[in-house]
Amino acid sequence: MKDLQIDGAKTNNEILLNWIRTIAFLCKPDRVYICDGSQREYDELCDQMVESGTFIRLNEEKRPNSFLARSDPRDVARVESRTFVCPINKSDAGPTNNWVHPAEMKEKLKILFDGSMRGRTMYVIPFSMGPLGSPIAHIGVEITDSPYVVVNMRIMTRMGKPALDVLGEQGTFVRCLHSVGAPLEPGQKDVPWPCNPENTYISHFPEERTIYSFGSGYGGNALLGKKCFALRIASVMARDEGWMAEHMLILGVEDLDGKKTYVAAAFPSACGKTNFAMLVPPKGFEGWKISTVGDDICWLKPASDGSLRAINPEAGFFGVAPGTNMNSNPNAMLTLNKNCIFTNVALTDDGDVWWEGMSDQPPAHLIDWKGQDWTPDAGRPAAHPNARFTAPIAQCPTFDPEWDNPKGVPIKAFIFGGRMSRDVPLVFQAFDWSHGVYLAATMGSEATAAAEEALPPMRRDPMAMLPFCGYNMADYWIHWLHMGRQLPDPPRIFRVNWFRKDQEGKFLWPGFAENMRVLKWIIDRVRGRGYGVESPIGYMPRHEDIHWEGLDFDPETFYEIMSVDRQESVKEARSHEELFDKFYDRLPTEFINHRELFKSRLWRSPEIWELARDFF
Ligand code: OXD
Ligand code: MN
Repeated sequence: MKDLQIDGAKTNNEILLNWIRTIAFLCKPDRVYICDGSQREYDELCDQMVESGTFIRLNEEKRPNSFLARSDPRDVARVESRTFVCPINKSDAGPTNNWVHPAEMKEKLKILFDGSMRGRTMYVIPFSMGPLGSPIAHIGVEITDSPYVVVNMRIMTRMGKPALDVLGEQGTFVRCLHSVGAPLEPGQKDVPWPCNPENTYISHFPEERTIYSFGSGYGGNALLGKKCFALRIASVMARDEGWMAEHMLILGVEDLDGKKTYVAAAFPSACGKTNFAMLVPPKGFEGWKISTVGDDICWLKPASDGSLRAINPEAGFFGVAPGTNMNSNPNAMLTLNKNCIFTNVALTDDGDVWWEGMSDQPPAHLIDWKGQDWTPDAGRPAAHPNARFTAPIAQCPTFDPEWDNPKGVPIKAFIFGGRMSRDVPLVFQAFDWSHGVYLAATMGSEATAAAEEALPPMRRDPMAMLPFCGYNMADYWIHWLHMGRQLPDPPRIFRVNWFRKDQEGKFLWPGFAENMRVLKWIIDRVRGRGYGVESPIGYMPRHEDIHWEGLDFDPETFYEIMSVDRQESVKEARSHEELFDKFYDRLPTEFINHRELFKSRLWRSPEIWELARDFF
């Protein structure tokens, strides 16, 4: 095995070389290649995929150096039902993860991976999650048989030789093994999107810091630096090492004094995180600036000065395309002008891309995400609803150069938002850290309403980490509480909800750019100059505490989106019990106390908002 031919970049890291040899022996690829991360390598792989039919090169004038990929229609999204967290003890995975004993899972995987790369090249991708050499960053190596994964990883991470240099001869790394699970017999012609949907396993071995993903080539199933490493495995590393790995965007707010305040915000998937991360301040906020550090993942470590410093471990956006347009997110649209990969969007007749919501009027003719002719009367979407763009963060007009600062940025507030049509106010602040952790742990989003249901059911998504926490969620809450105790001045914690609706089901809050008004109140509070009142659920702004210049938003509607129904809140408190019951004895006792305090504050108050108003 020692004489295995390895092409591409060179390394003397014996741990890595041994792992490469072991995997090559198992997967039996035709060729082994270590990626150097160069532009030349990227261009060659893209050309090769154009040749093989995986990529379509877009119109060079309209979308330079950009490509469209169409996936197999059976492989279009992350698959939570095929995602497994495999510590030795089931209770360490907790009730919210699929668990299989690691020995059993490895048995299964060994059979699947055996020979799975026949007829293909095995690419070795060294990558850094976070600025190269940063004390908050970590190195991973992904082995994959998918060139699509290689080029996406080049946009999404700092990859290739620079990462190998940081790894050095002795460094260790998170092992990420990926195969599309579609070996080729000699002479067999490849398909544009090889995959193996019947045998998809996205499995995590937290104790070994290892990920094995088989059968899918799509997104988080295959770009293993993202959800698999930066959240599921990193959350375990963070617990063990005293830091935090969170499903959060990071943005900076620069006010009229030129002072910048950084916040991190967690929203469940598909709640507009990318839009919020690139927000354009509305009328009435002339001179204010928002800068983008990240749109999806945030790693935080306490620094010696007592601050909590955050990095975005990623280097690109892997965003949902449909719904993105010059109104909803002009900065994302401008980011997509060049050097991007689009997956499962529609192709225009002049070789550009289109998706639902990009323009009011769809083009008269398109090729849809399945490669078929499409016209506006086709009765089906032209782009898949989970169609994606892969784009370098440095192309974003609001890109914050601090993104590459190895020290990270100091986080002053955590914002948690769900999608609730009722009962969760537009914004409120937790009384203190542990109350904030409780609020974050009990957040949820309404599932799309079934027509016959009066009130849509809610899916609890603690810290927006339900599909991404690599260990027992109750231990994760304990870790959060512990982190707060360690910080001399922990970030303030807020809940927001952009999605309140009126009786007719119409959104009451305009959202998008206007969310800046909420953000300003949050920044004011953090900087000790924002007014608010104490209510039974937390600190709340009154109408006069929000900056309204440029928006006519009357107090009546404001108090409607700030209101909380007492009877519903009592039900809400009871349903927290249901959530907590799943965790038995691991539940932090602070949570029981907070629930009881919440209940007793409710009993005492006739109408929450009335009480809050009476207060002043
Ligand atoms: C994502 C997600 O794709 O959260 O970022 O699902
Ligand atoms: Mn996400």
